[in-house]
Amino acid sequence: MSDSKKMDIEQIRADFPVLHQEVNGKPLVYLDNGATTQKPQVVIDAIANYYRTTNSNVHRGAHTLSDQATQMFEDARTTMQKFLNAAKSEEIIWTRGTTESINLVAQTWVRSNVKAGDEIIISGMEHHSNIVPWQMVCEQTGALLKVIPVLDDGSLDYDAYLKLLSDKTKFVAVVHVSNALGTLNPVEDIIREAHKVGAKTLIDGAQAVAHWDIDVQALDCDFYAFSGHKLFGPTGLGVLYGKEELLNAMPPYQGGGEMILHVSFEKTTYNVLPYKFEAGTPNIAGAIAMAAAIDYLNSLDRVALAKHEDALLARANELAAQTDGIRLIGTSKNKASVFSFLIEGTHPHDVGTLLDQQGIAVRTGHHCAMPVMDQFEIPGTIRASFTFYNTLDEVDALFKAIEKVKMFLL
Ligand code: ALA
Repeated sequence: MSDSKKMDIEQIRADFPVLHQEVNGKPLVYLDNGATTQKPQVVIDAIANYYRTTNSNVHRGAHTLSDQATQMFEDARTTMQKFLNAAKSEEIIWTRGTTESINLVAQTWVRSNVKAGDEIIISGMEHHSNIVPWQMVCEQTGALLKVIPVLDDGSLDYDAYLKLLSDKTKFVAVVHVSNALGTLNPVEDIIREAHKVGAKTLIDGAQAVAHWDIDVQALDCDFYAFSGHKLFGPTGLGVLYGKEELLNAMPPYQGGGEMILHVSFEKTTYNVLPYKFEAGTPNIAGAIAMAAAIDYLNSLDRVALAKHEDALLARANELAAQTDGIRLIGTSKNKASVFSFLIEGTHPHDVGTLLDQQGIAVRTGHHCAMPVMDQFEIPGTIRASFTFYNTLDEVDALFKAIEKVKMFLL
């Protein structure tokens, strides 16, 4: 129940060891959560405990440790299934991250279901990982890539999307929250309209999962992709959710151990879900640690913490309005707590370096979203991406540091 869940920010900060250090002689202000989130102690412990007590390969050993590792690995899948409200644990495929999840769908369902002249729709605010795999599959099949334009405030041109849809549309792959702009896209509407023309959908949830609970059945997406490390879990572990019927109909992505039922030189038969898509030894410790991250998130009042994140963004916007020379990039009214900006007369990289000298960690550059930077005719931005363990004082510290940067550079 909500009122028994943790929402005190100082208590929550105490769970994240990395936050309590000085960087360049200043208290660390970590505002690069869009790139990766920090890990609570329980996640760090889960990795260490697994290697200290249980390390074994899964699904193949005839010994106790292997059984225990297999149980923990599969329990982690069930934890993820419940977290996403997927109908079945078989619909959760462990991957290396969002990028691999998207490439998997591009090279399996899409490659085997589109033909020359069919259309794939993405948006103009996609991360490169939700652009390039579709360009590759278009080259392979002769399908055409269509791009939903982005409006000046960084929101999607939804009317243009509706006009792009036709019976040629076979697939729509759209980001849930833009990593560069923070825009929250109306993915329920996007999915519903795609389904009306018979297209399948993939949502890139990399930047959304850390902010809100995701219900894949309510969204009715066909695929949902994200990385564990942006959800307070380890790097090298991601998730592809897919509807069982589609996953069953898809060819395998990679061949190897685990993904087969029987191999002979004449004919190989493939394993059932989810193993068909998990060739090779998986990231066992990663999945177990991911489950620890989810258990941790389930102990928090995420609704209250989402409001706290809104307050952090509101404070940043308020301080930006009082600061000369700040240009905001991405001002859609529906946004996650991503604050992308420029300081007139300065280069983002210089600003990033000077902020770092004051202990403030932000990301600068094109954020792997070059097309949207081109649209705004900028080389990149300075991006502060907030999460629930950030404080209003940290937002204030960012703006104090910005004043010093301006004095130095301008
Ligand atoms: N895609 C990640 C980011 O936006 C790395 O920073």
